[in-house]
Amino acid sequence: MPRPLTIRRIVLTGFMGAGKSTIGALLAQSLGWEFIDSDAAIESSAGRSIAQIFAEHGETAFRAMEADAIRNHAAGEHLVLALGGGAIENAVTRNMLGGLNETMVVFLDAPLEVMVARCLAQPGAAERPVLADRERLLQRFSARLPHYRRAHLTIATADLAPSTVVERILSALSEAKTSAAARPEERGIPIR
Ligand code: S3P
Repeated sequence: MPRPLTIRRIVLTGFMGAGKSTIGALLAQSLGWEFIDSDAAIESSAGRSIAQIFAEHGETAFRAMEADAIRNHAAGEHLVLALGGGAIENAVTRNMLGGLNETMVVFLDAPLEVMVARCLAQPGAAERPVLADRERLLQRFSARLPHYRRAHLTIATADLAPSTVVERILSALSEAKTSAAARPEERGIPIR
């Protein structure tokens, strides 16, 4: 997808363990923008953890809550929004994201085994419902990949430090600004 020339928000997508929350917080800090993690937004509005929501209401209910949380926040400006790894499974969420102007979607990519290892090294690994179902992980990952790949920018993160990933996103932002300055007639008009 061609990148928009005016970028007022950045959406980070990718599988669990891709680094969305880490990179998102660092990126927002560098830009002086707000950072929202959709998982944290869901937990704070539901008053329960993601694991509890899965256990008590099931994944379908979780996906609906996730779509609502993303819809509630996605129009913010000067915003870095990190999506949960499965958010793009929901067609409602995909359509909403596809309809957002002035938004750069960034796919943080890495081999599945690297991301699983990162998740397992994190303190909350035992509570991750999707990680627990190890047999379905590859199936989920493969089904999600075509959606992740529709992002404006893909970064292979396996061998990169978080600061380098942030620098790459920042340089994509400045390229967009340079192109916008060179083509003022297109400024503000989303290019899709
Ligand atoms: C999920 C990923 C998690 C969280 C939930 C389901 C998934 O988010 O939304 O546990 O389906 O892949 P992260 O990708 O931020 O870990």
